[in-house]
Amino acid sequence: MSRSQRRRGRTLAQQADKYDCYQKSVQEPDAEIPVIQRVFRKHRGRAPRSLREDFCGTAAMACAWVRSHAHNTAVGIDLDEECLQWGGRHNLSALTPEQQSRVKLVQGNVLDVGHEPVDVTVAFNFSYFLFRTRPEMVRYMKAARATLGAEGMLFLDAYGGTEAQQPRTVRRPYRGFTYVWEQRSFDPIQNWGQNFIHYEFPDGSALHSAFRYDWRIWSIPELREILADAGFSKTEVYWEGTSQRTGQGNDIYTRRERAEADPAWVSYLVALP
Ligand SMILES: C[S@@+](CC[C@H](N)C(=O)[O-])C[C@H]1O[C@@H](n2cnc3c(N)ncnc32)[C@H](O)[C@@H]1O
Repeated sequence: MSRSQRRRGRTLAQQADKYDCYQKSVQEPDAEIPVIQRVFRKHRGRAPRSLREDFCGTAAMACAWVRSHAHNTAVGIDLDEECLQWGGRHNLSALTPEQQSRVKLVQGNVLDVGHEPVDVTVAFNFSYFLFRTRPEMVRYMKAARATLGAEGMLFLDAYGGTEAQQPRTVRRPYRGFTYVWEQRSFDPIQNWGQNFIHYEFPDGSALHSAFRYDWRIWSIPELREILADAGFSKTEVYWEGTSQRTGQGNDIYTRRERAEADPAWVSYLVALP
């Protein structure tokens, strides 16, 4: 801790905002929106305009969506009042009044909230892994399908690989803090993982357990079968390519039906009604 901080008596962790750290370290709506647009246009021959962001948290995606085109509209749904209010204060308020008029934030359960049919529903950063059993997941996929228009598409992300099923901690530096992803435990009988995000700061302070996620690590074949059971007629998998330079993922996702073994993969699943 520096002298000036000690004088002020507040550590960097005490001054930090966990949602701000989260948005900087986890979310990438500006990288995800082009993927959605490309895949939707390939199938529908037009741009998607209306988006539903399930488990929206601070609604970063919903706000980026309306900012990205003057005719785009978005509805964000989350159970948690605190993060919705943070999103209102920081993300919604950064939009023009006209852009704000095209976003609706709803405090509610993604299983229950209805609205006009949308072109695209997204559930990103694996939030739907919170549904623990197959009947719960079928119910969620059915609810997602029911609020899509005839040309609508559901976008999900998924992760897995042997490293996803081991207790391990990964650190990634950002400007002003280090993001720490801790896989604390994994139960292979239930495929149930207990995970935490912590943030560490240069003065040695930390926001321990800023976020906690207990969820089931679903496999792609399981998810595709459940999507079919929920009434989706077609599913596609978009798999990340590998950079020849670094040997790591290159952020370029292409449609694949087969992939080579990968100890830590992230992919997109796209489902069509
Ligand atoms: C992993 S965060 C996702 C935040 C954001 N979507 C993102 O991409 O980073 C999970 C969020 O899901 C919300 N949530 C959990 N169960 C829910 C449900 N049944 N309906 C709506 N929101 C839910 C939590 O309140 C939390 O904000």
